[in-house]
Amino acid sequence: MSIQSENIEKLVARREKARLGGSEKRIEAQHAKGKKTARERLEMLLDEGSFEEFDMFVQHRCTNFGMDASHPDGDGVVTGCGTIGGRPVYVFAQDFTVSGGSLSKTMSEKICKIQDMALRNGAPCIGLNDSGGARIQEGIDALAGYGEIFERNILASGVVPQISAIMGPCAGGAVYSPALTDFTLMVKNTSYMFLTGPAVVKSVTGEVVDQEQLGGASVHASKSGVAHFAADSEEEAIGIIKELLSYIPQNNLESAPVVETADPINRVDDALNSLIPDNPNKAYDMYEVIRSIVDDGRFFEIHREFAKNIIVGFARFNGRSVGIVANQPKVLAGVLDINASRKAARFVRFCDAFSIPLVTLVDVPGFLCGTQQEYGAIITNGAKLLYAYGEATVPKVTVTLRKGYGGAHIVMSCKQLRGDINYAWPSAQIAVMGADGAVNVLYAKDIKADPEHAQEIFEAKKAEYEELFSNPYQAAQKGYIDDVIEPRKTRFRVIRALEQLATKRQEIPAKKHDNLPL
Ligand code: HXC
Repeated sequence: MSIQSENIEKLVARREKARLGGSEKRIEAQHAKGKKTARERLEMLLDEGSFEEFDMFVQHRCTNFGMDASHPDGDGVVTGCGTIGGRPVYVFAQDFTVSGGSLSKTMSEKICKIQDMALRNGAPCIGLNDSGGARIQEGIDALAGYGEIFERNILASGVVPQISAIMGPCAGGAVYSPALTDFTLMVKNTSYMFLTGPAVVKSVTGEVVDQEQLGGASVHASKSGVAHFAADSEEEAIGIIKELLSYIPQNNLESAPVVETADPINRVDDALNSLIPDNPNKAYDMYEVIRSIVDDGRFFEIHREFAKNIIVGFARFNGRSVGIVANQPKVLAGVLDINASRKAARFVRFCDAFSIPLVTLVDVPGFLCGTQQEYGAIITNGAKLLYAYGEATVPKVTVTLRKGYGGAHIVMSCKQLRGDINYAWPSAQIAVMGADGAVNVLYAKDIKADPEHAQEIFEAKKAEYEELFSNPYQAAQKGYIDDVIEPRKTRFRVIRALEQLATKRQEIPAKKHDNLPL
């Protein structure tokens, strides 16, 4: 055998060994937990045959606690580049079969290389996390490695999309890399995220809680909002990543892909003309409106289980991606609270950073009141959404369907926050507040002074108020909305507005960076 052939044989054998990660036994153990290996996950994620692996032969440099006895190739993470739907992405997948996927300094160097390449080449960076956290034997070196990763997460923010899938443990400070990325997915029952695990919680606070209750996928998708998606399986999580990418551009200088559609731009939906109930206190389902107006009824929702009183997600109009933000009258009457404001603000800022136009559907009775909200800083949190809309320079098309009351009307992409095209349905009521509340404030004395005719006075004044304000025409008369449109034609009007705004150019004053209320 020639030296060359021998060398090649050695290479093939070494690659095969590296591909096994920890060992076949550890792979079995991984499967027994209902989890796939790093390589199996990447195989599902990337287009067939597209994976270009880097740093397969990198080994850790730790000698503490007997670590020098074993130097597995790859050191607990598989990194590289590939394509999804033909578009390049940079990826890393932690390999739990090697030291529990724990982060060594060399592992962090591999991940940082991928982050640097994603940033330099303008492509999304996707991390599949499955790790016991900082490699304990490496001490401060492992912490330094996390710091390097976090810094790159921050520098890449708003330049290339960053997606984190949590497919196993993600504990301690390790949670901050996903938290710094744009979207976090978790897999139900096999993944968890928390700063301190159940044992520490019990010793510090006495609270008894298990991993799932403390930081499982359902908890983070519905209560904390840390996770944007909770998938039933790893396969589903991978499918979500692929679909998500189809709506977003490769980087902040590109546009999202245009997807051909057979859905006519002038398709009307007569059902929308009778969707709004006569009783303003009766709910309807905003999903019906969204699905009715977007291409092919397809809506890709983000944060579905969190703050359900506001809906955010991606859809397309005439093949082009948009971000949809819509109040949901079916939940808490669509009121804005702390979580709804945070959820929508984050989404608006993502869309603005990546040039995705915003379509806002408004039916909002106001901000939620009460001590719980005030103590939780609804003022600061509501300001986040206000800030996000006011700062956004992407095309902004707004349709007020029914209520647009008070501060919440302003926050929801009104004209004065540089809303580009603002439409209203004939059922819109754009006012400082609803009729009942207004009459109770303005005529409290008159009503008190004449209890016998209290109801009469109330009804008369309410009718007067409704005549004046409970309609879209006060706003339309002053140009605060651009047109009152027939509900069934909403799709066409939104598409025409977006096409008109496709060449929009708008600046914000030069500054080092803004000071978003945090
Ligand atoms: C080194 C680790 C490790 C770690 C796991 N392993 N975590 N090795 N450093 N952090 C090793 C285990 O010793 C074991 O090796 C193998 O990985 C598999 O782990 P198991 O415990 O057998 O697996 P499992 O029962 O599934 O439990 C997984 C686990 C547990 C819950 C993650 O391993 C665990 O609690 N690990 C420690 C978690 C932790 O406290 N990490 C530090 C967080 S603080 P062998 O060879 O025996 O099979 C942190 C700071 C970050 O990360 C700061 C950033 C700013």
